[in-house]
Amino acid sequence: MTTSSKLNILVIGSGGREHAIVQKCLQSPLAGRVIAAPGNGGMASEVECFNTSVEDIDGIVALAQANQIGLVVVGPEVPLSLGLVDALETVGIPAYGPKKEGAQLESSKAFCKDFFARHKIPTAEYANFTEVAPALEYLESHPAPIVIKASGLAAGKGVIMAETQEEAIAAVKDMLEGGAFGDSGAEIVIEETLYGEEASIHAIVSGDHFVCLPPSQDHKRAGEGDQGLNTGGMGAYTPTSRVTPEMQAAIEEQVIRPTLDGFKADGIDFCGTLYAGLMLTDKGVKVLEYNVRFGDPETQVLLPMVADDLVPVLLASAKGEPLPAKLNFHQGAAIVIVLAAGGYPGDYAKGDTITFPNEIAERAAIVHAGTKRDAKGTITTNGGRVLGVSGQAPSLQEAADLAYSVCDQIDFDNKYLRRDIGHRELNRK
Ligand code: AMP
Ligand code: GLY
Repeated sequence: MTTSSKLNILVIGSGGREHAIVQKCLQSPLAGRVIAAPGNGGMASEVECFNTSVEDIDGIVALAQANQIGLVVVGPEVPLSLGLVDALETVGIPAYGPKKEGAQLESSKAFCKDFFARHKIPTAEYANFTEVAPALEYLESHPAPIVIKASGLAAGKGVIMAETQEEAIAAVKDMLEGGAFGDSGAEIVIEETLYGEEASIHAIVSGDHFVCLPPSQDHKRAGEGDQGLNTGGMGAYTPTSRVTPEMQAAIEEQVIRPTLDGFKADGIDFCGTLYAGLMLTDKGVKVLEYNVRFGDPETQVLLPMVADDLVPVLLASAKGEPLPAKLNFHQGAAIVIVLAAGGYPGDYAKGDTITFPNEIAERAAIVHAGTKRDAKGTITTNGGRVLGVSGQAPSLQEAADLAYSVCDQIDFDNKYLRRDIGHRELNRK
């Protein structure tokens, strides 16, 4: 194939997820030029990055046109909810990810819960509110412990797990009257607290077709033992033995398939990622939420486990064409440990120089998240989650040992990591 018959790919975003997507695309024999916007220090070392914001829809369309892009892969949810895929479709550029209508599944939790109810998808009992009085009345008949959620996008921060009635009432008032979470909190979901272990299923969807990636689990809390503040995710691993093959089949039949049927019934043309956040309760699997993009840091473990070329799969989804019946995966396990800047998810420093080992083991990888690269090639910290260090091995324990050994060879001021990523799976049996 000549370069011109290859596919030029534009990856949108600046996190670890997008760096992992760039690396997967670079491995594809179909890929021509791979570029990113806005990218980060790690991506800038491998591909050309353009300083276009993920929210600048017109700018991204112009960038894609100017670079003869044949596939745009959208990392984060915000450009999806702003209609980036719709805008690219109008100029005939295939883009991986749902259009604005489908992206509401993530951008409006109230929309998502009503979708679940309409299509009988198992989820926590709930009600949506825009006014304080009926919400407080609902709390009287559904007392704490209870969960209060800002309906709109809140970067994972808009969920209050109220242990007491006072906390529940305060959360309702803060969101609906106090402007906490701004417009995102103008509508709220109040829902039953579910108990169990969480797991994630990522499906790549193209209309009626879907293929699932292996089940994964992530660690959202900042502190060891899953304590402390919620973050974007401090680490993740795949697979999890909690999702047995039977449970996987049940999830596909009771959650994913009814979701695709629901899209059809509602007239929503959905292509892209369906990422189901699941609670494995003793009454069966329930969906906590849907995201409409790959998880970060889950992507850093999921994509390296895919043995097939992913580019034709993403392209088929972007064009609404059929997907392969199944994907092939590498055997074994993968883990990713996030190296954060001390203080994250609160205030943290930026601009600290990072030193890396000269060489790392073949089955380990370093993905950049919040980093910046200067003209001399020096990499500095530039965000809360700085790097993701992953390891792949026959067992999760070996993968963890490998990844942690690389973590210890990376240095920057106030480097923070959790030492217990994968603890649930590692301590089972
Ligand atoms: P969400 O953004 O809706 O996934 O919520 C973020 C996190 O809050 C989830 O990963 C769970 O840990 C927790 N959570 C959300 N809803 C519930 C619920 N109904 N019961 C228990 N935990 C929940
Ligand atoms: N790791 C959680 C997320 O991507 O939403």
